[in-house]
Amino acid sequence: MTYVVSENCIKCKYQDCVEVCPVDCFYEGENMLVIHPDECIDCGVCEPECPAEAIVPDTEPEIESWLEINAKFAAEWPNITRKGETPADADDWKDKPGKKEQLSSNPGAGD
Ligand code: SF4
Ligand code: F3S
Repeated sequence: MTYVVSENCIKCKYQDCVEVCPVDCFYEGENMLVIHPDECIDCGVCEPECPAEAIVPDTEPEIESWLEINAKFAAEWPNITRKGETPADADDWKDKPGKKEQLSSNPGAGD
């Protein structure tokens, strides 16, 4: 089992999750983070830290496509271990539905 970053993270990217992860298994894209499913130790500490409620366990229904996205991009994007700057318009994107088409496959800055 692993935890998964889902659609709510896109364009919010608050990064509070990064600060609490004991094994540094977050990876940074241009406008969202993902969790490496093989590195996550399933501690659950990050889940309540996300202001956008983007982090869910992989036991959630219909999370399969997001698990695939996390696995794919965790292999491509740089590791992030410290919280960077939150996007200026993050609050405008919070709770917005249908953000999947906004997902950028570009890597983020790393740390
Ligand atoms: Fe890190 Fe724990 Fe969250 Fe997994 S569940 S990403 S190990 S804080
Ligand atoms: Fe994304 Fe939430 Fe972390 S918005 S960057 S999963 S704190």
